[in-house]
Amino acid sequence: MKALFIGGTGLISSAVTELALRSGIEVYLLNRGSKRGFEESGAHYIVCDIHDEDAVANSIRGMEFDVVADFIAYAPSDVERDYRLFADRTRQYIFISSASAYSKPVMSHPITESHPLGNRFWQYSQLKADCERFLFDKFAEEGFPVTVVRPSHTYGDGKFLVPLSGAKTQWTYLDRILRGAPVVVHGDGKSLWTVTHNTDFAKAFVGLMGNYSAVGQAFHIVSDEALTWDNIISVESRLLGVEPNIVHVASERIARTLPEYYGGLLGDKSESMLFDTSKIKRFVPSFICTTPFSVGIRRSIEAIMSGERIVDESYNARVDLLLSEL
Ligand SMILES: NC(=O)c1ccc[n+]([C@@H]2O[C@H](COP(=O)([O-])OP(=O)(O)OC[C@H]3O[C@@H](n4cnc5c(N)ncnc54)[C@H](OP(=O)(O)O)[C@@H]3O)[C@@H](O)[C@H]2O)c1
Repeated sequence: MKALFIGGTGLISSAVTELALRSGIEVYLLNRGSKRGFEESGAHYIVCDIHDEDAVANSIRGMEFDVVADFIAYAPSDVERDYRLFADRTRQYIFISSASAYSKPVMSHPITESHPLGNRFWQYSQLKADCERFLFDKFAEEGFPVTVVRPSHTYGDGKFLVPLSGAKTQWTYLDRILRGAPVVVHGDGKSLWTVTHNTDFAKAFVGLMGNYSAVGQAFHIVSDEALTWDNIISVESRLLGVEPNIVHVASERIARTLPEYYGGLLGDKSESMLFDTSKIKRFVPSFICTTPFSVGIRRSIEAIMSGERIVDESYNARVDLLLSEL
């Protein structure tokens, strides 16, 4: 099988690239070449900016693929460009959408793939839903071979989980916990959050590649592990050897002081997100998640502890501003 990944060296896509190469797939990575590590494992690099359509067209001239997957398409203009570039070159096109695109508030659980899309709180999710609509219209009109994948929160080595993300360094979060500074958790901390390790995500993703019965279908790829946010912070704090210092703040209150969190909290993290995973398991029967949160986050913490310990003071200032107003 011959596959082209747009991206391929990012948080989610690097795990997919690694597993695809180990599975014997011939992998081409189209990105700007800032991380070249996969060359040693046999990946071919096409160094290009995906936004330069002419340059991409030139660099793939004469090439055909069994699968093209775009990990960095966020708006209809991105998937329209991909359609122009790849419609005649691939037997399957995989679009990485987001489980945050499901409509909110969620009225019943577990969420299946037929749950309606439409997240009125978060533009990121609305644009992902618009992309899906364009691609499924092309499938209906002319058989464009799209498969849609909707990840929920997917983390990997070196990534930490907190409700208020966005610090420039991961060490910033550990530093707060280690010195006993409060960690803000939205609401009462009891909403349930599904967490998936990128190596588990990759198993289902690679299982969909070249799986042509998955064309015209959407799948969320998530684990069956859902934890309360209080528990997530508690597990992380205890792995760091300290007791958690959680401060609960209503999501609306957080978003009033720090508007950058409005969509991600009200349109995603403030909801319980529990998924029915039977569809992906039906299409990829070998899909089993083997990295529980306590194991994956321990590895993440070890990676962060062994890296540079730089604190993002502007992040701390924003969180402390919120706390000072309570
Ligand atoms: N992680 C989650 O919890 C989660 C949840 C829901 C959905 N998602 C979706 O998952 C996708 C993210 O995948 P990821 O984690 O692999 O991405 P990522 O960590 O953002 O990695 C970006 C990748 O794209 C390449 N890239 C960036 N800008 C480029 C450009 N202009 N031209 C060519 N290549 C470019 C980067 O390499 P270079 O810098 O070398 O170009 C890198 O390979 C997104 O679509 C996101 O919406 C993620």
